[in-house]
Amino acid sequence: MPDTLFTPWKLGGIELSNRVVMAPMTRNRADVDGVLPESAVEYYRQRSCAGLIVSEATQPSAAGQGYPGTPGLHTDAQQEVWSRVAEAVHSAGGRIFVQLMHTGRIGHPSLLPDGGPLLAPSAVRADLEVATADGEMVPAPEPKAMTLDEIRQTIEDYASSAARAVAAGADGIEIHAANGYLPHQFLSPGTNVRDDEYGGSPINRARFVVDVARASAARIGADRVGIRISPGGKFNDMADRDNEDTYLALVDELAGDGFAYLHTLRGRTTVLHEELRRRWPTTYVVNTGYGGSSEIDEVGPIVEGGVADLVSVGRLFISNPDLVDRWKSGTARADWDEDTFYTGGDRGYIDYPSASTQD
Ligand SMILES: Cc1cc2nc3c(=O)[nH]c(=O)nc-3n(C[C@H](O)[C@H](O)[C@H](O)COP(=O)(O)O)c2cc1C
Repeated sequence: MPDTLFTPWKLGGIELSNRVVMAPMTRNRADVDGVLPESAVEYYRQRSCAGLIVSEATQPSAAGQGYPGTPGLHTDAQQEVWSRVAEAVHSAGGRIFVQLMHTGRIGHPSLLPDGGPLLAPSAVRADLEVATADGEMVPAPEPKAMTLDEIRQTIEDYASSAARAVAAGADGIEIHAANGYLPHQFLSPGTNVRDDEYGGSPINRARFVVDVARASAARIGADRVGIRISPGGKFNDMADRDNEDTYLALVDELAGDGFAYLHTLRGRTTVLHEELRRRWPTTYVVNTGYGGSSEIDEVGPIVEGGVADLVSVGRLFISNPDLVDRWKSGTARADWDEDTFYTGGDRGYIDYPSASTQD
């Protein structure tokens, strides 16, 4: 039994009851105004056994929405449901950070206010299909390279959304700089060919993430801000190889500011991860990523061996709302149903039983 996994951890100013984090997972159940459904309150409450929940990706502005059905956190109506989510999680003894995601070039103008534009660091289109507002799959359009004013406005949007998250009672925010979305597009030389202060050298490519993190910290405190990265990740047509210097520059730049945590998708770049872990001064969170396994025999030793302070677990939390309790008691865990990941209303969302209510 990997005991360390079930011990408390101090994350910034808050105490987590264990080292298991529910990984951020998009569920596409929000309405056309980006408002979460009522059932989201129950969905997150059911999963409060996690030491920390990182919410599904949430757009900090209408301009940042890349998929139908993702929630936002930039209007009062959106914030109101988030406040009930946070309250439900806290009442059940849990903690929650809201993940903020601007999708950049991964999106479609039909989802954006006034039909666009689709913004990205540079006009480099993704070679994949994206969903329109009607859910039709079409080739991704070429995005527009952001002006400096658009970059400044986008940074401000993140900071305002971070302030709303804390006003709603969330414990903090996670900046989604992984998996090929806007911040990752800035980090990677394949999608960022700018020649101003946001492109070119590793530190210039890291600047957007640094600016977003610092602007958010200025509003809510650095100890309420986490950052998620996926060095080397190829998801969303990224070619992020040979970009290790950018991640080292990013971590060195952020290391002195007291941010809550760094959350990495491990992938194959184990050596880089060891170096990131060594240089990162606060909480380090690992997700084994799509290529690995999040079963207890895999994640237990990650914490036990000090590879990370916390581990995040995705799909198992969809089908096992009481995952940590099941792990503690050795109860078998249930399989997930992929068909209801992104669709299905309450089905595949709030109807997975916990072990104690199963019979
Ligand atoms: C349905 C689904 C939705 C996801 N949505 C997000 C997301 O919104 N933000 C994010 O950073 N990662 C997202 N991911 C990736 C997960 O956080 C995690 O990295 C991945 O599922 C691998 O971990 P696992 O093997 O424990 O599931 C998603 C994964 C799944 C399965």
